[in-house]
Amino acid sequence: MLFKQQAWLRQKLLVLGSLAVGSLLYLVARVGSLDRLQPICPIEGRFGARSQAEFPLRALQFKRGLLHEFRKGNTSKDQVRLHDLVQQLPKAIIIGVRKGGTRALLEMLNLHPAVVKASQEIHFFDNDENYAKGIEWYRKKMPFSYPQQITIEKSPAYFITEEVPERIYKMNSSIKLLIIVREPTTRAISDYTQVLEGKERKNKTYYKFEKLAIDPNTCEVNTKYKAVRTSIYTKHLERWLKYFPIEQFHVVDGDRLITEPLPELQLVEKFLNLPPRISQYNLYFNATRGFYCLRFNIIFNKCLAGSKGRIHPEVDPSVITKLRKFFHPFNQKFYQITGRTLNWP
Ligand code: A3P
Repeated sequence: MLFKQQAWLRQKLLVLGSLAVGSLLYLVARVGSLDRLQPICPIEGRFGARSQAEFPLRALQFKRGLLHEFRKGNTSKDQVRLHDLVQQLPKAIIIGVRKGGTRALLEMLNLHPAVVKASQEIHFFDNDENYAKGIEWYRKKMPFSYPQQITIEKSPAYFITEEVPERIYKMNSSIKLLIIVREPTTRAISDYTQVLEGKERKNKTYYKFEKLAIDPNTCEVNTKYKAVRTSIYTKHLERWLKYFPIEQFHVVDGDRLITEPLPELQLVEKFLNLPPRISQYNLYFNATRGFYCLRFNIIFNKCLAGSKGRIHPEVDPSVITKLRKFFHPFNQKFYQITGRTLNWP
């Protein structure tokens, strides 16, 4: 009996030991493979080229850790100076579109070691009061970063606000502009759902989507309704094209970012002249949320807030058909201008 117990114990210890050694080897291999990754290649063109040796991945990861500590208030001003931390104006802006997936895009790009995000929507260019405070005010709103990193901010109202293109142009005429779009009718319903939630919270009365989107007098699509107007992407883009050439824009397919984020992010990395660093490892599907979530490393991962991915109300199918028909010619024009066909109905 005693012998049997000893043999069982030995066997258990052997299994546990192998597991421990296996995990240790895995960790060593992972850390080793991070070290072996090529150094970050120069961020070319408008971001200013640098020698590859200046951008070791490990250094940027260490720096990101330090930045995190700084934001939590655990780093002193001296350390900030010592490590060359600066508040830089954005080199790229996610200008819209509201409910297109702007938050998901920003958070996912932030997985890249050379990208630093401005967490809050700053609304500098679309808000006259903020704009009057000047560019230094805007710069001070930016997160600390290292000179070789790029700062990205997102304020979806920029896309539809009249004055914004000129104002951004005055700050940096060669800035890169990201537009994330979704199928226009879905986006409009998502927009409505957000407003509806706000109204319900405040116990305010609200109309059904159908009543807002379709003019009851003419039975035509109501272009005065903001959620409809915002989805006429080409109209807004045309205003931007008075200031920026089309090469400075990149269109992100927001519907694909939901179902298959990696290829969309790889296209953005390319557009921003960043070396490909975001991998499938960084993105995992969370069945409970029904969305992809972010994995920064073996310890830290996160999903977007619950306000992202709301359940939409049911909409009369005939209204959906009407809206899709209405958006169709504008979509065709949008594909033609941007060179990106999105196969919307
Ligand atoms: P819905 O709430 O209509 O589903 P924005 O950040 O511009 O407000 O966009 C919100 C939309 O981002 C959500 O719209 C959701 O569908 C989409 N989204 C894309 N990827 C997501 C992700 N990984 N997690 C949660 N929402 C995501």
